[in-house]
Amino acid sequence: MNVTIVGAGFVGLVTASVLADFGNDVWVLENNTEKLGNLLKGKIPFYEPGLETLFLKNIKVNRLHLTSSYQEALAKTEVVFVCVGTPDKGGRVYLQYVYNATAGVARNLKESAIVVIKSTVPPGLNDEIERRMRKYTKVDFSLASVPEFLREGKAIEDTLHPYRVVIGAKEEETAQKLLALHEPITGERVICDPISAQMIKYASNAFLPTKISFANSIAVLCDQCGADVEKVLGGVGLDRRIGPDFLGAGVGYGGSCFPKDVAALIGFGRKKGYNFKILKAVQATNKEQVNYFLGKIKRLCGGSLKGKKITVLGLAFKPDTSDMRDASSLSVIAGLKEMGAKVTASDPVAIPFARRLIDGIEFVEDPYQALEGAEALVLVTEWNEYRSLDFSRVRKLMKSRIVIDGRNVYNRNMLEQQGFIYEGVGK
Ligand code: UDX
Repeated sequence: MNVTIVGAGFVGLVTASVLADFGNDVWVLENNTEKLGNLLKGKIPFYEPGLETLFLKNIKVNRLHLTSSYQEALAKTEVVFVCVGTPDKGGRVYLQYVYNATAGVARNLKESAIVVIKSTVPPGLNDEIERRMRKYTKVDFSLASVPEFLREGKAIEDTLHPYRVVIGAKEEETAQKLLALHEPITGERVICDPISAQMIKYASNAFLPTKISFANSIAVLCDQCGADVEKVLGGVGLDRRIGPDFLGAGVGYGGSCFPKDVAALIGFGRKKGYNFKILKAVQATNKEQVNYFLGKIKRLCGGSLKGKKITVLGLAFKPDTSDMRDASSLSVIAGLKEMGAKVTASDPVAIPFARRLIDGIEFVEDPYQALEGAEALVLVTEWNEYRSLDFSRVRKLMKSRIVIDGRNVYNRNMLEQQGFIYEGVGK
């Protein structure tokens, strides 16, 4: 099929590369000239395992094309995916990029096509988008909704083998065509109306952080009563009605989706006259978890951090990404600075991105160098290189042997045998 992707962000580039790899002819439309220039040189603006290889492979065989021209991108299109951002602006979903992109599509559509909203938008927005688009075109189009459920760091795998493919379409013909386009992708199919499709996306991205905040609350109680949160939630997760995933306690969730979508669903509820109390508590718990973690650091470092070197391992909001959006490291580091600590931070890929957001700290790529003379090691992002640190080396580098594990990845016995003071979250 001839496919157009509007927006060369994370979702757009992954979707485009995978659809091109299936043999479709894919046009990617990007109006940021700097970004487009870099992409034309083969440079992906963020780190995502496997993406660059897939992208370059399909550029080379001429199945993937890049342009800033709507006319060119839509010349032969059958299916358009709108993949522009819907960022949080002060607790509200910013929809202007979606309106601009769909207006651009409408103005330049030559023949009937399916326009799919992949961007995460409030349920029901398709009616408003359609009303605006019809002002710009007489060409017939069908507006559908196919939300994405990609995890950063695993985006290619999640696109090829998702748990489900949700297709929200009003007409049977549209649903059938979208099913055909998604044919090579595995996973259950959910065919529904666009409003339900968008609700599935919001509800999923609100339920997962609810699980995490619940796990974090249990972890705090485990700390208080001496239980081991990993055993506790491991036992809880064995109940198939609950499931083992996303019960990992630690310093809280971050990223480009959970904080934004939780806020958006609370806002959506408010508009509909519903006070989504559970989600407000999820937000508050996530915020408090950072303070709780900071309290641990202060206590273990003798009640004051003034002038003490604290090394933070991990800046990205999770491993295998360079994404710093709403990363827990940002609030942990802000808190450490406020308490007068001298912070050194390390990350395998996110340092250049973190430098734009954090000042007044030292960035050191090599974790061993970063730990030289440190009072405490604070793990915030569980990159593999930090999981497998050589602690016999680390113990000789640090000033005090204190490890505070914000992702519960280290083995207490092993560390204590080497003379470290160790604390995780709830264990
Ligand atoms: C998430 C959803 O998983 C994905 O389906 C959706 O489309 C986009 O949002 P992503 O933001 O890439 O994906 O990250 P994810 O792997 O879900 O982790 C989000 C945050 O939760 C991270 O900060 C992670 O450290 C934290 N987390 C995750 C926990 O604190 N505990 C867990 O058990 C799992």
